[in-house]
Amino acid sequence: MSLLLHLQLFTFCLALSQLRFVASHQESGDSHCEPDAEARIVAEFMPGFVTLDGHADDWGDINGFDFPLRPALDPDEDKEYKAGKMTVKALHDGKDVYFMLQVDGDYVYSKGDNYKCPSVALMFQVGENASYHDMGGCKELPGTCNNKTCRGHEVDIMHFSIGNSIPGRLYGGNNADRIGLVDMFAWNPHCRNLDGIGSAGNESTAMNDWKGAWWHSSFTTHSGYVEEDNPYASSGQKGTYYFEFTRSMRTMDRHQQDVQFTIGQSSKFSAAFWYPIDGNPWHSSGHYTVSCDWVPLDVTPGSSTHVKVASGSSWDAAAGFAFLISVVAFCVSIFVGYRVSKTKRAIPFTPIDHL
Ligand SMILES: *[C@@H]1O[C@H](CO)[C@@H](O)[C@H](O)[C@H]1NC(C)=O
Ligand SMILES: *[C@@H]1O[C@H](CO)[C@@H](O)[C@H](O)[C@H]1NC(C)=O
Ligand SMILES: *[C@@H]1O[C@H](CO)[C@@H](O)[C@H](O)[C@H]1NC(C)=O
Repeated sequence: MSLLLHLQLFTFCLALSQLRFVASHQESGDSHCEPDAEARIVAEFMPGFVTLDGHADDWGDINGFDFPLRPALDPDEDKEYKAGKMTVKALHDGKDVYFMLQVDGDYVYSKGDNYKCPSVALMFQVGENASYHDMGGCKELPGTCNNKTCRGHEVDIMHFSIGNSIPGRLYGGNNADRIGLVDMFAWNPHCRNLDGIGSAGNESTAMNDWKGAWWHSSFTTHSGYVEEDNPYASSGQKGTYYFEFTRSMRTMDRHQQDVQFTIGQSSKFSAAFWYPIDGNPWHSSGHYTVSCDWVPLDVTPGSSTHVKVASGSSWDAAAGFAFLISVVAFCVSIFVGYRVSKTKRAIPFTPIDHL
C-alpha cells in the first residue's frame, strides 16, 4: 500500500516539475533554439577570384547561404528583420580567408554616428568550451573574468561600424580601431576586450588582424569616393549593403584571442547585423544574428568540388573524342576483316625479328 502511495506521490511531483519546466520555458523565449540543420558555410580554395573593395560582382559565382536575421536576444520569427535575409559567402586562397555579407536595406548613413548607420560583426569560437549563447558563456563577471577563470570560453569578434569609413575604401590593421573596424575577444558580453588589450597586456603582434570594406548598391560611382562626398547617396534608397572582409588564416596570436583557420577543418561562426530601424539609433544588444547557435564554416582543401566541376566540361570533351576514335577504329577493323575475308588470302606471318 505504502509503495503505491510513494509511486503516486512521485508521479505527482514529476507532473508538477514538468508543468513548472513548461511554464519557465514559455517565459524565457531565448532558451528556445532550433538552429537550421542545413545552415553551413563552405570556404573553398578559390585564389584570384575576389578583390577586397566592398563590391559583390566578383562573388557572383560563389555559393553562399541565406540566413533569416532574428534578434539575438529574442530569436522569434515574428521579430525577423523584414527587409531581407543575410547572405554569407566565404572562400580562401591558401593564405587568407575572405567573407562577403550581403543584406538588403534602404540606404541610411549618418557620418560620424555609428549608431545611425548599419553595422556588422563576425564571431568565431576560439576556446573549445565557448558557447554561441552569451559570447563564450563564461560565468565570471568583470573583475574576476580573466585568462585563467574563463579559460576555454574565448570567442573572437570582428565588428565593423561604418559611420567613419568611406564606401569602397579599404580599412584594417591597428589604425582601423578608431575608424570602427575592431578585432576583439570575449569570454561573455560583459568581458570583452580589444585584441592585445586586457588581462594579457598590450602586445603588438596580437592586435587587429582584419581588413574590410563596405558598399551599397544604390551608389552610382565606381571611380572612388572621398570623405566630402558623404552621405554618398540620398537617404532611403532601396538596395543592398555589402560588407567584405579578409584575415590571414593564421595569426601571431599567443593568448587565445584569434580564431585560427586550418585547411580541411571546420570552425564555428556567427554573423550579426545592426540597423537603425525607422531612423532610430541601434543599441549594442539590439542586433540580429544569423542563427541561435554556432554555424559550421568549412575551410576546404585545394581539390574542391568547384575545381572538379570547372574542369568537368573539358573531361567530357576528351571522353567524347576518345569514343569517336574508338568507333572509327572499330569500323576500320570491320572493313579490314571484310576485305581480308573477301580476298580469302592468308596474310603471311612475318616474325618480328626479321623486320
Ligand atoms: C572544457 O570542458 C570540459 C568539460 O567540462 C573540460 O574537461 C575541459 O578541460 C574544458 N576545456 C578547457 C580548455 O577549459
Ligand atoms: C594598453 O594600451 C592602451 C591603449 O593604447 C593603454 O590605455 C593601456 O594603458 C595599455 N595597458 C598596458 C597594460 O600597457
Ligand atoms: C594571462 O594574463 C596574464 C596577465 O594577467 C599574463 O601575464 C599571461 O601571459 C596571460 N596568459 C596567456 C596565456 O595569455
